[in-house]
Amino acid sequence: MKGLILSGGKGTRMRPITHTAAKQLLPVANKPILFYAVEALIDAGISEIGIIVSPETGKDVEECVGDGSRWNIRIEYILQDQPLGLAHAVKTGRPFLGDTPFVMYLGDNLIKDGVGPLVKRFEDEGPDAFILLKEVPNPSAFGVALLDKDGAIVGLEEKPAKPKSNLALVGVYLFTPKIHTAIDQIKPSRRGELEITDAIQQLINTGHRVDSHILKSWWLDTGKKDDMLEANRVVLDEMTDVSMLGEIDDATRISGRVHVGKGSKLVNCIVRGPAVIGEDCLLESTYVGPFTSIGDGARVSHAEIEHSILREKAQILDFHGRICDSLIGVSVELTRSTGRPQAFRLMLGDDSKVEVV
Ligand code: DAU
Repeated sequence: MKGLILSGGKGTRMRPITHTAAKQLLPVANKPILFYAVEALIDAGISEIGIIVSPETGKDVEECVGDGSRWNIRIEYILQDQPLGLAHAVKTGRPFLGDTPFVMYLGDNLIKDGVGPLVKRFEDEGPDAFILLKEVPNPSAFGVALLDKDGAIVGLEEKPAKPKSNLALVGVYLFTPKIHTAIDQIKPSRRGELEITDAIQQLINTGHRVDSHILKSWWLDTGKKDDMLEANRVVLDEMTDVSMLGEIDDATRISGRVHVGKGSKLVNCIVRGPAVIGEDCLLESTYVGPFTSIGDGARVSHAEIEHSILREKAQILDFHGRICDSLIGVSVELTRSTGRPQAFRLMLGDDSKVEVV
């Protein structure tokens, strides 16, 4: 079994954050989303992974993830010239995939339970393809599956205006090489993309067996700011690996599950977990509330920050205000000279400079 992770695409829904970065590299609990996909595949026993990248962000992805040696596996990068659809990405990955069955994992998806049990089921039961589904309140934002009363798939549709069910296609698929023939038989959709949903429908149309499993645990598609914050909330909520590797003074109070990285210093702060503070951060007279991730090298003083992601080297200095539900990019500088305390809800791209007066 090989793994194919899709980390190309344009990431338009996460602008301005993704003007300067690949959305799959955005951190959830201070770890790039893409790492969760790589680690899920490794946990399932997969040691050969291909990552589809775009010309715009491929270099960053490669630099960040590396050749796999840190996990003792092999990672290959596959350039997709244009984001022409998920099935097009598989087509591009064909030389890497050969005739091996594979798990295709969308690099912006997070699922709780990993893929090990699914790989086992796929291998034991031998369908031509295996898809994951999840009940969602907004199915028209996804691929949607209609099942019959025995649970067999009747049909699939990509982002239908009038969905026939509330079962969304989760971005983790298991395929035999039969998918390649199906991809060769489909045409681009109305939005001009070769849809993997159509290729799976084609498998069904040509008499192949496609099995499905309905996920009960959480699944997150981190396409938008609020999805990122929700992913951060869910992952922090389950975080068990916490340690205090930094320094705190006597006035600082920490409660709940809080991880503080090495080289970080907290002076006169209150931190209520679950929260993660990276390495080499300096926090002074600051309140860090639940579900907050603070990236390496950040500096915060006289501020309150809650339910937010603050990225590496961001600086919020002498702010005297409250930041919540916010996603703040790398090296953002946020300062405030006067005024009474207020609350802010922000999405700031990397290197932004904001002065609230
Ligand atoms: O998240 C689940 C949904 O993912 C499914 O329900 C849909 O059926 C499926 O089409 C897909 O929809 P999205 O609109 O969310 O896909 P998105 O364009 O966000 O791309 C998903 C990932 O694949 C993302 O990491 C970018 C990457 N990608 C995307 C395209 C279009 C590529 O690597 N190449 C591409 O050409």
